[in-house]
Amino acid sequence: MLDTPKNRPVLPPEIARRRTFAIISHPDAGKTTLTEKFLLFGGAIQMAGQVRAKGEARRTRSDFMAMEKDRGISVSASAMSFDFTNKDGEFRFNLVDTPGHSDFSEDTYRTLTAVDAAVMVIDGAKGVESQTQKLFEVCRMRDLPILTFCNKMDRESRDTFEIIDEIQENLAIDVTPASWPIGVGRDFIGCYDILRDRLEIMDRADRNKVSESIEINGLDDPKLAEHVPAAQLEQLREELEMARELLPPMDAAAMAEGSLTPIWFGSAINSFGVKELMEGIAKFGPEPQIQSAQPREILPEETKVSGFVFKVQANMDPKHRDRVAFVRLASGHFHRGMKLTHVRTKKPMAISSPVLFLASDRELAEEAWAGDIIGIPNHGQLRIGDTLTEGEAIRVTGIPSFAPELLQGVRAGDPLKSKHLEKALMQFAEEGAAKVFKPSIGSGFVVGVVGQLQFEVLASRIELEYGLPVRFEQSQFTSARWVNGEKQAIDKFTESNKQHIAHDHDGDIVYLTRLQWDIDRVDRDYPDIRLTATKEMM
Ligand code: G4P
Repeated sequence: MLDTPKNRPVLPPEIARRRTFAIISHPDAGKTTLTEKFLLFGGAIQMAGQVRAKGEARRTRSDFMAMEKDRGISVSASAMSFDFTNKDGEFRFNLVDTPGHSDFSEDTYRTLTAVDAAVMVIDGAKGVESQTQKLFEVCRMRDLPILTFCNKMDRESRDTFEIIDEIQENLAIDVTPASWPIGVGRDFIGCYDILRDRLEIMDRADRNKVSESIEINGLDDPKLAEHVPAAQLEQLREELEMARELLPPMDAAAMAEGSLTPIWFGSAINSFGVKELMEGIAKFGPEPQIQSAQPREILPEETKVSGFVFKVQANMDPKHRDRVAFVRLASGHFHRGMKLTHVRTKKPMAISSPVLFLASDRELAEEAWAGDIIGIPNHGQLRIGDTLTEGEAIRVTGIPSFAPELLQGVRAGDPLKSKHLEKALMQFAEEGAAKVFKPSIGSGFVVGVVGQLQFEVLASRIELEYGLPVRFEQSQFTSARWVNGEKQAIDKFTESNKQHIAHDHDGDIVYLTRLQWDIDRVDRDYPDIRLTATKEMM
């Protein structure tokens, strides 16, 4: 267990055994394969292959979009819960999936507000790739603890010190080896588990089998020579000695504050190193953490239930036109049927059919604890950033909305269907899939996204879900900024800049322009007005 920070009470066991984390990686590094092996060892699936399984069953869960398959990208984030048992007890792992494509960075950012740690997967031959770097930066902003898994060690990979150096240099984080690979590529036989003093031998014959694990009494133990060829053993001893001199030892506190990451080496496809990584998550992946909120922070051990929406997903099940709000519970012990207060509207909500996402299914959540992710089906009342409590007017903070980097106009193929288009656009805006602005002059909408691919995703979803062909076209605007200030100042500002003014889907005022010059002019001419590129969701 992690050391409990000073003055913090020990968490109730049901909360203390929860580990809520995400996997960050560059596409192709092995995130899907690793997820599958987690579920396999967590007993959540019987056979590897189910996560990737194509066909109806899977499509209804997260692969609901044809495009997702065609492009080999994951558009929608989902959450999965499974158990992991070891000698310290039974842990509940909540794995929150992050979309892998760079165009979805905003969604990813918000996903990372719902976890207590991240597992960073890198490819042993490729090292730190661009998307890993970007996602890492997001984790860094939140000082998230990071556990690193260096995958594909069964193939030719880089020198171990080189990989560690690259992580330290590119990501400016200290790295401590939790395991050490023995041999490379075809000669890779397994790892020395530094944290637990064991030898783990990879079984190349059976990809789903847990490795043979041999207890070792230090590097001079004669048992080592029984399993490791002499030349490799000599190299292992030399490298480990160097590693001890050059690299910092494991330090749970440094990991918890995000300045040190332990690294495990393995091969997800061969199920190798995965169990050790899970042991690491159980031991070091922190317990549910304190949640920042206004007017006070929320402690996980509080008996009253609170939680916040970090993602909204529509049409998870094409048979039901519902939306599911993904809620991270920040405190308390939740029971199905509870009445919670929706803080933004001050209205009570009976949570009668919350769902838990298990590997192969979703099921009704009879209960859940701080740290868990539950899905709440709703008809649009729940938006990203919303807080639910047992009555207290408290609002979770730190869930931002970013100004879109690309703006386009949108038109329905059939002009008579413009009301339908408005409905579709509002839905996507509430899901956080796009920003939708209604200019105060003229008709039509301006849609803003972070990456070009999102326009295609939107067009295809509007057609698929609303039967409405649409066209995105160039807009006269290229930038959007939220307008902040006192009401009087805002009224005066909007009155004299009507041609630039629009409202977002929350009704907040936005300034649209195509020139940086305009933004500079507002800064200069309107000292009482502040234009911002982010807005806190509430
Ligand atoms: P991603 O979700 O991060 O994009 O990666 P994914 O797990 O889909 O893995 C990408 C490719 O790497 C897959 O091959 C997968 O089989 C392979 N892979 C994953 N782990 C390992 C490993 O430990 N060693 C080796 N050698 N390969 C690994 P693919 O050819 O794209 O797909 P498939 O035909 O194998 O399903």
